[in-house]
Amino acid sequence: MRLVLLGSPGVGKGTQAKFIIEKFGIPHISTGDILRAATSAGSPLGKQVKQIMDEGNLVSDEIMIQLIKERLQQPDCMNGFLLDGFPRTIDQAKSLEKILQERHSPLEFIIQITVPEEEIIKRVSGRRIHPASGRVYHVLHNPPKEAGFDDETKEPLVQRIDDQEETMRKRLAVYRQQTEPLVNFYRSNEPLTFDNMSTHPLYYEIDGNRSVAQVTEDLNSILGTEIITNKGQDIH
Ligand code: AP5
Ligand code: MG
Repeated sequence: MRLVLLGSPGVGKGTQAKFIIEKFGIPHISTGDILRAATSAGSPLGKQVKQIMDEGNLVSDEIMIQLIKERLQQPDCMNGFLLDGFPRTIDQAKSLEKILQERHSPLEFIIQITVPEEEIIKRVSGRRIHPASGRVYHVLHNPPKEAGFDDETKEPLVQRIDDQEETMRKRLAVYRQQTEPLVNFYRSNEPLTFDNMSTHPLYYEIDGNRSVAQVTEDLNSILGTEIITNKGQDIH
């Protein structure tokens, strides 16, 4: 299973990713989580990207493409992966295609989650995260068992610096300008051919402005039934 979750900041990509990776046993590759881990560790990469992230801008394509290239080479990606937050520009999407073409393993699903912007602003104001695992909560819609603490480790939850309203509006504008063009890119993409087997990256759109469980239900039905190649074989 090789899929990309697309969508504006705050639509629920990280929340839904946790269910999918558990079900399919694939790694959750969230570029935001990777970068936040680097900033917390104070690594050279972290120092380079911290201010860019705090201001709601995108990290350069050059850094992000190299990061993903290395991550996809890890053994846990052999049987698939879920990409969350990458690609975010047309150049990133083209590079991803090239990387996957070299591996003879095309994308199987591109799923876009949509939520109106004003609803997103409300959601992120209540978001709390567990930095070490990337687990995501919401004080009202998806609360932890004990307020302020992670369900599994019992460690404290924190708010993201880039969730302040002004920064969030900036991130939404950056998304409209730089990431939204990916929707047409994937919709109009030519079928890809690998090893004489042509597969279509499958683009779906889900209404994310419903409960967490309802969105998961849509994802289940898409992922459970639609993995078909032009030979009529199921691939997993
Ligand atoms: P990143 O961490 O990827 O942030 P994002 O894409 O902006 O998305 P979010 O994590 O904010 O939202 P989400 O869709 O995961 O929503 P969540 O599930 O948490 O990126 C951060 C930064 O890193 C970027 O700004 C950039 O600087 C840099 N970066 C990362 N990747 C990059 C790249 N490829 N290129 C360049 N720069 C890059 O849900 C949100 C809240 O809503 C939670 O509180 C949740 O509990 C709640 N919620 C979820 N679903 C529902 C529901 N159905 N109903 C009600 N509440 C819900
Ligand atoms: Mg996220």
